[in-house]
Amino acid sequence: MKPVLGGYLLFALLPFCWADLYQAEAERIMNQTPVIDGHNDLPWQLLKKFNNRLSEAGANLTLLNDTHTNIPKLQRGHVGGQFWAAYVPCDTQNKDAVKRTLEQIDVIHRMCDKYPEAFTCVTSSAGIQDAFRAKKVASLIGVEGGHSIDSSLGALRMFYRLGVRYMTLTHSCNTPWADNWLVDTDQEQPVHGGLSDFGRRVVWEMNRLGMLVDLAHVSVQTMTDVLAVSKAPVIFSHSSAYELCNSRRNVPDHLLRTVKERGGLVMVNFYNLYVSCNKEAANLSQVADHLDHIRKVAGATAVGFGGDYDGVSTVPQGLEDVSKYPALVAELLRRNWSESDVEAALATNLLRVFRVAEEVRDSLAQEPPDDEPIEYETLEGQCRTSYGYPAQASASASAPSMLPAALLFPLLLSRLL
Ligand SMILES: *[C@@H]1O[C@H](CO)[C@@H](O)[C@H](O)[C@H]1NC(C)=O
Ligand SMILES: *[C@@H]1O[C@H](CO)[C@@H](O)[C@H](O)[C@H]1NC(C)=O
Ligand SMILES: *[C@@H]1O[C@H](CO)[C@@H](O)[C@H](O)[C@H]1NC(C)=O
Ligand SMILES: *[C@@H]1O[C@H](CO)[C@@H](O)[C@H](O)[C@H]1NC(C)=O
Ligand SMILES: [Zn+2]
Repeated sequence: MKPVLGGYLLFALLPFCWADLYQAEAERIMNQTPVIDGHNDLPWQLLKKFNNRLSEAGANLTLLNDTHTNIPKLQRGHVGGQFWAAYVPCDTQNKDAVKRTLEQIDVIHRMCDKYPEAFTCVTSSAGIQDAFRAKKVASLIGVEGGHSIDSSLGALRMFYRLGVRYMTLTHSCNTPWADNWLVDTDQEQPVHGGLSDFGRRVVWEMNRLGMLVDLAHVSVQTMTDVLAVSKAPVIFSHSSAYELCNSRRNVPDHLLRTVKERGGLVMVNFYNLYVSCNKEAANLSQVADHLDHIRKVAGATAVGFGGDYDGVSTVPQGLEDVSKYPALVAELLRRNWSESDVEAALATNLLRVFRVAEEVRDSLAQEPPDDEPIEYETLEGQCRTSYGYPAQASASASAPSMLPAALLFPLLLSRLL
């Protein structure tokens, strides 16, 4: 009787043991190779909740409990690298976007300064590996949206000096030089047909600086244009597979293949709406489907994680917060991913792309900065001065009362002719 019962019990328990084994294996791998995540919006939460006052008692990043992200969760999740988003919404475009972006960069630096036992701000691929060894979260800065530079290459260069190591070319609005993903829906009309000439110069300058080009949020044509011109491999810091969920925030298969050819990386977004196309329901297994799909189409060297935690309203069952990465890795192991494929997705792909971008920067070290400003006429908004531009540039754009006359005159003329 005893052996039979014992055998039965063993049989009944086996699935649980296997689950635990995969989880234990995931933890073992992640102890050596923690995850580098492409996109986390904790800084945006700090702005919304505390107006960036880290000194407020409630803003203690160890105790914070109504966000996807806090220090204990990062540690349980084996997060070893994080691109923190310096995000400011599109309605700051042509207003205070640059100032607000600076403030988000500032709050990320202050996170590193205030919690040195948890975070270390780094700006290079070598810096990430040093942080791994020190068991700190290598903290990097990504500016989410080209509107943040206000069409200024000088502003872009200063962001680089402040530690910014990727820029998403658009958020959910066109810039004066690139179209965003909404032009692929019926919500917005294309303006530039991808990247404008100035947009190409922005990409060139990013290549020259060694700042990664992020194609999350851009239109398919912008993706295509950048993949054709960028000298360094690109990333999608938080985008999933269009084939599995037809959201235009996701990457279509033909471009996954181009990403593979160009040595780039797609870091999978966990937002329900981009995983299952259903904002209300998604699960960990469906996120694994996206990782599987991208690995199948673009190869194991093109897959990564870009959870978008604290930037989205719903996340999948099983991936409730940043402590859950090991559960996702366990699922990949259950799906027969090799240890080296798992390590590639966790960290080594991003490290490779970053290193190549640094090599491209070094190879362009003799190239001068692009100091040709954007044409004044392509700028929008009424709030900017025109120092440095010819006097007539300022007259047409900064004197709104002149505009009706300027518009009427050619009209009148065409009537006469
Ligand atoms: C956050 O709270 C923890 C636990 O109470 C405390 O040990 C730590 O000193 C606090 N950190 C800061 C920066 O206030
Ligand atoms: C969350 O944190 C707040 C502020 O520190 C605290 O008052 C509250 O009790 C905490 N809630 C839970 C569920 O731990
Ligand atoms: C995840 O969701 C899909 C689609 O609803 C469902 O078919 C699948 O059984 C779910 N998987 C788990 C493990 O819950
Ligand atoms: C994983 O590999 C094993 C042994 O090669 C095989 O039996 C199993 O069907 C595979 N599982 C999946 C999900 O591919
Ligand atoms: Zn985003």
